[in-house]
Amino acid sequence: MCGIFGMIGEHATGITLQALKYLEYRGYDSAGIAIKGHNGINIYKSVGRLHNLEKNLPNGLDSSIAIGHTRWATHGAVSTDNAHPFFSPDKCFAVVHNGIIENYQTLKKQFCSRGAVFTSQTDSETVAHLLQNNYSDSVFGTVLATANSLVGSFAIAITTAYDNNLYAIKNKSPLVVGVSDNGIYLCSDIRCVSHWASKVAVTPDKTVVVVGRNGAHFYDFNGNPIMVEFFTPERAEEMEQVDGDFMLKEIYEIPSKIRLAKAGYFRDGGLKIDAERIKKLSRIYLIGCGTAYNSGLQVASVARKYLDLDILPVIASEFIYDNYPVDGNTLALFISQSGETADTISAVERVRDKGGYTYAVTNTSSSSLRFKCDGFVNIYAGGEFAVASTKAYNCQLVTLLLIILDIARIRQTVSENEYIEIVNGIDKLPVAIDQILANSYEIARIAESVKDSSAVFYIGRTTDYPTACEGSLKLKEISYIHSEAYPAGELKHGTLALMEKGVTVVAIHTCDELSDKMSSSVNEVVARGASVISVGPGELADTSIILPDVHKALYGIVSVVPLQLLAYYVAKRLGRDVDKPRNLAKSVTVE
Ligand code: M6R
Repeated sequence: MCGIFGMIGEHATGITLQALKYLEYRGYDSAGIAIKGHNGINIYKSVGRLHNLEKNLPNGLDSSIAIGHTRWATHGAVSTDNAHPFFSPDKCFAVVHNGIIENYQTLKKQFCSRGAVFTSQTDSETVAHLLQNNYSDSVFGTVLATANSLVGSFAIAITTAYDNNLYAIKNKSPLVVGVSDNGIYLCSDIRCVSHWASKVAVTPDKTVVVVGRNGAHFYDFNGNPIMVEFFTPERAEEMEQVDGDFMLKEIYEIPSKIRLAKAGYFRDGGLKIDAERIKKLSRIYLIGCGTAYNSGLQVASVARKYLDLDILPVIASEFIYDNYPVDGNTLALFISQSGETADTISAVERVRDKGGYTYAVTNTSSSSLRFKCDGFVNIYAGGEFAVASTKAYNCQLVTLLLIILDIARIRQTVSENEYIEIVNGIDKLPVAIDQILANSYEIARIAESVKDSSAVFYIGRTTDYPTACEGSLKLKEISYIHSEAYPAGELKHGTLALMEKGVTVVAIHTCDELSDKMSSSVNEVVARGASVISVGPGELADTSIILPDVHKALYGIVSVVPLQLLAYYVAKRLGRDVDKPRNLAKSVTVE
């Protein structure tokens, strides 16, 4: 899973490096660039962040043809040998690849049996060998033959010593082609390429692209020309510089982004799904990964009170391969901050194939997910750059709740009063969250005692359990402390065995009617030596984070904020790179 970029035009080297900066969210294990000059193709690559590559580049490398790559390791360790681009053995082709070549082992065995030497453990290097092996006298024919030999998901950019074109092969992994007066671009991401391109086209699956000085041409895998529509992209927000960490900045933006999410939902016309379709629905799926899945989990637990149909949160990668029922009366809400998550995008196909209605809930109006779905709503969280998702979660909750309430209204399963109470209640959330943020020093102090925990368990019941899941995910991904979330009542069925001195338990308790039950769970873990931090409108433990009062249906939007802050401060105290934690990427573009 990686980001690729390619360009023909003025200042291709500098623009490719700048593009890799924008694409770093797709992986930052290594970065590399292939530059075509008068003396052939030169490749430069470095392990780690892009600045490592930049600092190792010789001066005066400007060129009019370049391809670049930023890597999130799938096949082969993080090393310079495994960094892209890859040369073919004769150095006449250089390739960068995003995706997974599923048949690479078979291909590699065939090449090795004929004496070929591979310099990496990657699947991607096979493509460079295939190109050399398939070469006759037409590069286009070579690329087509290579495309037809590959199985899997791939967006591949190729530069060659044989001519001054760039070539690309695309199947399943995203590839956008952009054009401007200054050049033509190949890129994994519309937002990135929109910094330079005035028009862009989303490349269909099973396509070969030939980019020359006079334009981009698209062909199917049989070599037949295909028409692809270009459109004007929305210009991406600049990635501003921050003094501290993006994660903290993004947490502090939550109050203002909640206002924007609500205003944006109504400004864009609300639900925009035909009322007749809504009335006939028999089930709703909320599908996503990681934090996006947790937002589905949270909203489903609230929605069960307001809807008279099955509402099922499902992890996207499970949905693809399991037999969840789908028919014409199914609505599937696909939740994804980036709109580029491969698991979520793949899950769309299953719903579409079976006649269900697909609806994207994303933070990017030009994402691949949006283009795949029948309907779309923007969560208006603004650019989120920290790998750990924070403000997008809160905005997903606001937007999803508004969707659920609109559905309930059409089906007449929520009273008008309650609808108005909840919708107006959203307006009070920014102030409530500001109160929590104003006391963040308190949470920073609590973090000091959590940072040495051997493990941290997050517990909650009903609507608090999803919040526990999100708090736990946040902590583990940026602090690397082992952490799990449990429905509080489930602890005694096994996990209680892990409670001892050194373990921290975070107990979320926003449901009044369950507070006695939560209190019992807290007593059970304290009796075994664990330390407890309670998070709710009252005190349940010696260390308590008190939440302001908000509408019951909206508590999840507020109660997660201290947990986001806690994860941040614990990770900071442990000296972690909070914005770019180890082994992760902002957007996971392979299944
Ligand atoms: O872009 P998406 O919302 O589809 O991303 C889904 C997950 O990869 C993402 O939420 C991930 O779990 C975050 N790093 C969690 O903070």
